[in-house]
Amino acid sequence: MSYHRAPWPATRMRRMRKDDFSRRLMRENTLTVDDLIYPVFVLDGEQRTEAVPSMPGVERKSIDLLVAEARELAELGVPAMALFPVTPAEVKSLDAAEAWNPEGLAQRATRAIKAAVPHMGVITDVALDPFTTHGQDGILDDDGYVLNEATVTALVKQALSHADAGADMVAPSDMMDGRIRAIRQALEEQGHTLTRIMAYSAKYASAYYGPFRDAVGSAANLGKADKTTYQMDPANSDEALHEIGLDLAEGADVVMVKPGMPYLDVVRRVKDEFRVPVYAYQVSGEYAMHMAAFQNGWLDQDKVMMESLLAFKRAGADGILTYFAKAAAVKLAGRG
Ligand code: PBG
Repeated sequence: MSYHRAPWPATRMRRMRKDDFSRRLMRENTLTVDDLIYPVFVLDGEQRTEAVPSMPGVERKSIDLLVAEARELAELGVPAMALFPVTPAEVKSLDAAEAWNPEGLAQRATRAIKAAVPHMGVITDVALDPFTTHGQDGILDDDGYVLNEATVTALVKQALSHADAGADMVAPSDMMDGRIRAIRQALEEQGHTLTRIMAYSAKYASAYYGPFRDAVGSAANLGKADKTTYQMDPANSDEALHEIGLDLAEGADVVMVKPGMPYLDVVRRVKDEFRVPVYAYQVSGEYAMHMAAFQNGWLDQDKVMMESLLAFKRAGADGILTYFAKAAAVKLAGRG
């Protein structure tokens, strides 16, 4: 460690910390509403909401209610929503064909939100797990292995149907090889040259996704199976750089690291290495842990929520997908 200034008493680190004005003047990172993306769960029907027990404060909502939500979020300045459909069991199948149904929940929700609130960014999830009877993100062979190419072919159809519905950004979260290239090529060929791709590039095989799988209703389908043959090993971070380099070369506009807080070291490495837009996802399990502590009075809700989000900025994230997006936006607007 080399110091560019003489040590104490010439340097007293506490001088700058003494007053609010000087603390503000040396602040390195700031969280603003521009950093926030709000993930929402889309339910069939009208005027319908359902609580998600493992995610207190989060509700699945029918499209009409999500349109109202989009208006509120736009008013708060939140730039984008990420849509996750809750697929009815009767339309799940082995080939996940509901994923590219133009009248599917994600497609209808996209059209409704874009029609009502045109400047709200709509991000759609490109993956098959809400649509398969087994809850895996792809098409299986006879041994239960997720087939790469067959799955990519399905993902391309799904991404195109989202772009046709007006999605601003498609977000492949499946971790198949080569899917970014295939989706980019298809989007270009179909005239969707400006549809952005947010790649879940470094997506780990994480147990922190548990509450999300409850929320979209894939937990029961998946059972005791895991996703370790396609999602990354939590032990690795060089591999994350490898994945990100490939997705950028294949045409990703934004790359993402997921989960968030336990993986901030990965966010930092990615930002330092590539200098491109990097998002991070504070996932359902991270939200659930926080809410459990807040509801027990063990942690201060507002302070810890804002601290957790600022930590993403410090790590180098340009955007944060978080179930706290709305509450944080309210607070940032001085209304909370
Ligand atoms: C689906 C998908 C998952 C999440 C986002 N997209 C779950 C999974 O991969 O099993 C997790 C989000 C969260 O936990 O908040 N491919």
